[in-house]
Amino acid sequence: MENTTDRIEGAARHISSRLAGRVPQVGIVLGSGLGKLADSIEDAIVIPYREIPGFPVSTAIGHKGNFIVGTLGGKTVLAMQGRFHFYEGYGMDLVTLPIRVMSRLGIKYLFVSNAAGGANPDFNVGDLMVIKDHINLMPNPLIGPNLDDFGPRFPDMTAPYDLGLIAKAEEIAASMGISLRKGVYLASTGPSYETPAEVRYFRSIGADAVGMSTVPEVIVARHCGIPVFGMSVITNKSNFDNVSEVLNDGDDVVLQADIAATKMTRLFTSLIAAL
Ligand code: HPA
Repeated sequence: MENTTDRIEGAARHISSRLAGRVPQVGIVLGSGLGKLADSIEDAIVIPYREIPGFPVSTAIGHKGNFIVGTLGGKTVLAMQGRFHFYEGYGMDLVTLPIRVMSRLGIKYLFVSNAAGGANPDFNVGDLMVIKDHINLMPNPLIGPNLDDFGPRFPDMTAPYDLGLIAKAEEIAASMGISLRKGVYLASTGPSYETPAEVRYFRSIGADAVGMSTVPEVIVARHCGIPVFGMSVITNKSNFDNVSEVLNDGDDVVLQADIAATKMTRLFTSLIAAL
């Protein structure tokens, strides 16, 4: 079987051969229901994952399974319309494969997005939360032999989300009249949503938003030395008790994300223009 590095290099070579000489500066991962940002990408080339050697096919709802290369905010971007989740049964090497491929293709920044439950009781459905830090309750994607060509055995994690990008995003959002939350994203494996006791626990250890993605990709991007900007769209409020009438539902998550995606697209576009 081909090893991880061969798989990364093979996929990068394939994508590179379809970029018509363009060099992507920014990688973007679009979360559940957030794929419509891709509609704003100009002069787009679509590369379905199924055509890329070594790539798995995304099965999660609200995820299409394409790379879109084109121009956004005046920069060449490489957007992932759909990501691979650990809960789909992929190993962490496959969940994070696209990040290492994008690193090989030369991205200088990674923007990640997700749909998340609001564990902070002040948060409302439709809020945008800038991720300032995370708590990883998934297996670490760097477990196993270190890929020395990509980064060090023990990568620093003191600033997983770039502080300069966060400050710039806050400035731009204020000038556009978009209100932003800022908080800590907690990643659990899913696919079952949290119990009320788990939500209370997650809140007590510092979570503002809860989801099933993003953190593996961020850890691998930081291992590669790529600065990261992260955003959660709050698609539902977490249940703190067992008597609430509200049920968590995947279709509703995708619907609420789609509604908030327009705001997120405007912010991402302006932030990318300012890079
Ligand atoms: N929990 C976990 N993941 C999620 C949620 C949630 O409430 N909403 C969207 N993704």
